[in-house]
Order: sequence, then C-alpha cells, then structure tokens
Amino acid sequence: MNAPIGLYFASTTGNTADVAQLLAERLGHEQVALHDLAADGLAHMESYSQLIMGIPTWDFGELQEDWLELWPELEEMDFSGKQVALFGLGDQIGYGEWFLDAMGLLHDLLQARGATLCGYTSIAGFTFEASKALSSDGQQFVGMAIDEDGQHGETEERVDNWATQLQDEFCLQN
Ligand SMILES: Cc1cc2nc3c(=O)[nH]c(=O)nc-3n(C[C@H](O)[C@H](O)[C@H](O)COP(=O)(O)O)c2cc1C
Repeated sequence: MNAPIGLYFASTTGNTADVAQLLAERLGHEQVALHDLAADGLAHMESYSQLIMGIPTWDFGELQEDWLELWPELEEMDFSGKQVALFGLGDQIGYGEWFLDAMGLLHDLLQARGATLCGYTSIAGFTFEASKALSSDGQQFVGMAIDEDGQHGETEERVDNWATQLQDEFCLQN
C-alpha cells in the first residue's frame, strides 16, 4: 500500500478497466494502486485517504454487477476524512435516459458516508436526456464522464484533462 491513491474499479466488458489503466498511466503508477473489485473486493480501501472509483452503468440505470454485490459492504464503511474522485462509463445515445446513473448512485452513497467528493467535470460535449450523476445546478457531472460506445475518440483527452485536474485537487507532486 505504498501508492497514495487507491483506484477501485469494476468492468463487465472491459471499458472501465481500460480507462482505469490509462488514468493510472497518466497519474503515474507510483501514485496509484489499481484494485479490480472482481478480484480484490474492497480490500485495503480503508487504508487510503485518497481514492478514485470507476463504475459503469448497466441494465437501464443500474449498478454494474460487482459494485452491486459489494454495495451493502460500502454502505457500512466510514469515508470521513477521505477525498474521493469518481469516473463513470455509459452510453449517452443508447441509454440517454439513464446516462451514468450508477456514478450518481455511488456519489450519493459516499457523500452520505462522509466522503469529500472532488473531480467534477462539465457536461459540455455530451447529449443525453437524464442522468443521476449531475451536480445540484445540473451543469456538471459528479466525476469524469466517459462514453466509449459513442465518443471513444474523446476518451484520451478527457482522461488527460482529468488527470491534470486531480493532480491539483489531490495536491499531488508532479
Ligand atoms: C445491456 C446494456 C445496458 C446498459 N445500460 C446503460 C445505462 O443504463 N446507462 C448508461 O449510461 N449506459 C448503459 N450501458 C452502456 C455501458 O455502461 C457502457 O457500454 C460501458 O462502457 C460498459 O463498461 P464496462 O465495459 O466497463 O462494463 C449499457 C450497456 C449494455 C450493453
């Protein structure tokens, strides 16, 4: 547990895993320890004061299966004193009524359990009907939004920009 940031993610078809890898590369592997929920569960999560969590939305606004399985455990955890940044994967064309809902559900759980959320990003550049992953003014997502289905070509730049934003918000050394 030498890296300062724990990055926890789960992925059914590999997209969230790919983004997690890319983000760890951009932040620097010495800064980030990757934890796939399917293999590790929530092991060591309590030992980090800075966390990143990656969650895709599945089945019309539902949690991805590994997150769903660990949800009761998360609901019991204390996140006070922890900074958490989220990224969500979804499909704004195919599932625009539920775009990134799971990221919103995770955000609300973490906030209720005392976490300080950071890493919000603008909704500019996205088109969708509804999302549970919006800030109260509706102008931001409560984390980084990635759409590998419809906007794969934007992903690298979105990850680069967010890595820079987190360097600042997490107060990391470059
Ligand atoms: C059956 C199915 C249901 C989906 N439901 C949603 C949804 O409700 N909201 C959304 O934003 N994306 C939805 N998606 C899109 C996935 O979130 C997207 O493909 C994501 O990149 C998958 O990530 P993963 O490969 O890490 O599991 C759905 C995709 C499929 C195939």
